[in-house]
Amino acid sequence: MNEVKTFRLDGVDIEFSEGDTIMDAALRAGAYIPHLCHNPEFTPHGSCRVCIVEVNGGQVSACTQPAAAGLEVDNASDAIVEERRNLLQMLFVEGNHMCPGCEKSGACQLQAVAYYTGMLSPHYTHFFPQRSVDASHPDTAIDFNRCILCELCVRASRDVDHKNVFSLRGRGIDTQLTINSPSGKLGDSTFAATDKAAHVCPVGAILPKHRGYEQPIGNRLYDRQPISVVGDVAAYEPGNKGDGHD
Ligand code: FES
Repeated sequence: MNEVKTFRLDGVDIEFSEGDTIMDAALRAGAYIPHLCHNPEFTPHGSCRVCIVEVNGGQVSACTQPAAAGLEVDNASDAIVEERRNLLQMLFVEGNHMCPGCEKSGACQLQAVAYYTGMLSPHYTHFFPQRSVDASHPDTAIDFNRCILCELCVRASRDVDHKNVFSLRGRGIDTQLTINSPSGKLGDSTFAATDKAAHVCPVGAILPKHRGYEQPIGNRLYDRQPISVVGDVAAYEPGNKGDGHD
């Protein structure tokens, strides 16, 4: 009989299987570790660092750190929460996130994780970068102001849709999402609203047209329960709690 292997997360034993990361095992056990670039359907990416946890005294990304028997994982120390809040604050000032006017407000993972982490202000000076909106596609709009470079659309388009519609260009602070089409516009690419890439954006960067502000305030995905309970359900997926069909 296989021996059950466990590690401890905030004092609770979490079972894991061979090949699991800390994030895999925690999510399966119903324990929430904040994350943005992680989606269980895709290979871990480890870029946003919002999932940092303390393991035996050091900081690691839970989405890439293999689970191992006997690990002591701290997901809620003051230092970890503070570090996460800092990362989120930097994400907010690095882009243009105008939450009150955003169609994804109330169903946005960046916003929901910020609430969960107790972020009350951006703290840092806003960069206010000059970024564009691409409304060239008949069914989907892209607002580059809101992109957090999680690369979920890149991974979905490449690995699931087999289209490679998206990629990142540039380095450091100049890194940006780009569309692989002759004109650089989404409408000129092979992208379709039925693509997986159309349904994985954790923020309001890739949005379906004709459906904005469908849900009244108070009835949006994270209005009723926090992200730690709801999870990172993609809003605008048919039948989920964010589209009003539940
Ligand atoms: Fe782990 Fe982004 S969720 S690094």
